[in-house]
Amino acid sequence: MDLNYRTNLLFPAIAHQFDVNGFGEVKDKLIDYVYQYKQNDPIGVNISNRGGWQSKIFSVQKENDILHSLIINCLASLPHIKKSYDIFVEAWININPTGSFNNKHNHPCSDLAGVLWIKCPKDCGDIVFHNPNAFQAFHEINSYTDKFKEQTKYYHNYIFNPTEGRMLIFPSHLEHHVEANKSDEDRISISFNINLVPHGQ
Ligand SMILES: [Fe+2]
Repeated sequence: MDLNYRTNLLFPAIAHQFDVNGFGEVKDKLIDYVYQYKQNDPIGVNISNRGGWQSKIFSVQKENDILHSLIINCLASLPHIKKSYDIFVEAWININPTGSFNNKHNHPCSDLAGVLWIKCPKDCGDIVFHNPNAFQAFHEINSYTDKFKEQTKYYHNYIFNPTEGRMLIFPSHLEHHVEANKSDEDRISISFNINLVPHGQ
């Protein structure tokens, strides 16, 4: 019987992913920058991080240094967003030493959130996204074949391995956590919040 079957993905959660060109050439400079930044603000803040250091939030539009310009340049090439929207970005630095992790959280008061991975030794902690419908769709998700789940990315949760030089941007409401750093070295990333504001507002 030919059912003319098709799958329609309604209301997907969009995770934009891209790799920074030539990241290897700036990686060491960024690492130096991050540790210098921590020296100037050794306490930082404590929000979702457990055991690591998190900087205070800064606007990426305010300075013109290696970190700020890298983030701005990356986000300027974010595709699929109308030119009639301005993008405002606030960021913070995360240094997660061995054993540290981030509790489940979302990013209130912003539209998109993102991460740029700078230093990611093996087993330094995956980022795990939680399907907002995992409870309601528990049996439905379990009933699908592995192949179908892979094709549709329809899981109870979804894991990304951190990759140096990669940026991931996702809806701010999407809850996520970062698993413990099981390597012997620091895990370094930049997180950010993005507000999308139509011109004239
Ligand atoms: Fe986060």
